[in-house]
Amino acid sequence: MNPLAVELNKTLESSNNYLYEMLSRVGKRLFFPRGILSQSAEAKEKAHLINATIGIAKQDGHTMHFASVMDRIPALRPGKALTYAPSFGLPELRQRWQQEMFVKNPTLEGKAVSQPVVTCGITNAVSVFSEMWVDPDDVIILPKMMWGNYNMIFTVRNQARLVHYDLFDSKGGFNLDQFAKVVEAEARQRDKLIVLLNFPHNPTGYSPTVEEAGKIAGILKQIASDGCKTLVVMDDSYFGLFYEADTFNESMFALLAGLDPRLLAVKLDGATKEYFVWGFRVGFITYGAVLGEGGYQALEKKTAGCVRGNISNASHLSQSLLLQCLEDPRLDDEKAEKFSILKQRALEVKRVLDDPKYSDAFEPYPFNSGYFMCLRLKTVAAEALRVYLLERFGVGLVALGDSNLRIAYSCIEQNQVRELFDLILQGVHDLETGR
Ligand SMILES: Cc1ncc(COP(=O)(O)O)c(C=O)c1O
Repeated sequence: MNPLAVELNKTLESSNNYLYEMLSRVGKRLFFPRGILSQSAEAKEKAHLINATIGIAKQDGHTMHFASVMDRIPALRPGKALTYAPSFGLPELRQRWQQEMFVKNPTLEGKAVSQPVVTCGITNAVSVFSEMWVDPDDVIILPKMMWGNYNMIFTVRNQARLVHYDLFDSKGGFNLDQFAKVVEAEARQRDKLIVLLNFPHNPTGYSPTVEEAGKIAGILKQIASDGCKTLVVMDDSYFGLFYEADTFNESMFALLAGLDPRLLAVKLDGATKEYFVWGFRVGFITYGAVLGEGGYQALEKKTAGCVRGNISNASHLSQSLLLQCLEDPRLDDEKAEKFSILKQRALEVKRVLDDPKYSDAFEPYPFNSGYFMCLRLKTVAAEALRVYLLERFGVGLVALGDSNLRIAYSCIEQNQVRELFDLILQGVHDLETGR
C-alpha cells in the first residue's frame, strides 16, 4: 500500500476507528498523490524565474488561449476558465458551498463537517462515494422506487446488494415501520450497513415531514448506537424545492451529522438541479461524523484522490461561473422566482388531480417537493400507456415498473397540466376499450 495511504489510514484510525473500518478496500488504498501536483503547487509559490511544471501552455506569462473561445466568456480571465481546477475543487467555491450549507440547514449550527470536495456532477459524487465506501456484497438500503442510475453504480460497477422497502405506508406517509424493520433486520446480520436517503425523491417527489425526518434519524441513530457501523448517504440533488409547510426543509444530513461515533453521514449535492445548471457538472461530497483531529482532512484527501484517479478534476469554467453566481446579489431573488414557478406547478398538479374523474384510472403517489410526481395506474400497463401516449398524442412520460408513470412537471407549463392529465385519462380509456 502507498505510504501516503498508510498515513491517512493511521490518522483515520486514531480519529475514529469505526470510520476507518467502514472504508471499502479501495477506500483504504486511496491517497492524494504528492508527485506532479504537489511539486507544481510548490513551484507556483517559489519558482519566480521559470516554472516549467504543469501540463498547460503559457504565452507572455499568461494562459495560452484562443480568442475564439475566450470571446464567448468575457466575464472570466483564461486563468479562471481554461486551466485545471484542483482535484479537491476551487478552494473559494468549497468554502462558499459550505457556508451556504450552514445557512440552508440551520440544524447544522455548532456541528463540525468537512469541507465539500467537488465532483463532476452528483452522478460522479455517487460513484466516488461508492468506490470509497462500498465493497462487493455490502448491503445498501433504498426504497423500491429509486433513481435507476444507483443500480448501475452500486450493483453493476461495485457489486453491492440493494435491499428495498416500500417508500409509503397505507396512510400516504413515509413508511417508518417498514423502514425500521428492514434497517434493523439487516443491521442484526452485519456490522456495516449503508442507507441511502434521497429527498426530494426521484421519482415520486416525496420528502419527509418534520416528524418523519426526526424518526428516520432516530432509527438510524439507534442501530448505530446498538453497534452497527452505519453509513448514511444523502442524495440531495433536488434540495430546497420543498412546497409544503410541514415538510422537513433541511437535509437529513443536518440531523445525522455527528449523531453517533458509529454513524457517518455523507452529503451528496450540487448545483445541477438547485441552480438550474444541469450541464455544468458541479457536485459536492461532504462528510459529517464524530471525528478527532485531522480526520476530515484525511477523508477529503482520500476523496480528492478518488476524483483524481477518475476524472482528475471537475470543470474549472463551471466552478468559476457557479462561484460568481453564488456571490451575485441577484441570486436570492432569482431562486425565489424559479421556486415559486415550480411550486405553482406542483400545486396545480394537486388541484387538477383532486378531480374524482381520474380516480378509477390512476392515483398520485404522495408528493410535496422536487421536480417529479408519479401516478399509479389501476387498469393498464405503464409501458403500453407510455407508448400509446407518445404515438397517439405526442405526449412523453416515463414508465417505471408495471404500473407507474413518472411525470416531470418541472418541464411543462402550468397551463399544460390539466391537458396532460386529461390526455393520460383518454389514453387509459382508449387502451381499456381496445381502441
Ligand atoms: C436522484 C438523483 N441523483 C443524482 C442525479 C444526477 O445529478 P447530476 O446531473 O448532477 O449528475 C439525478 C439526476 O437526474 C437524480 O435524479
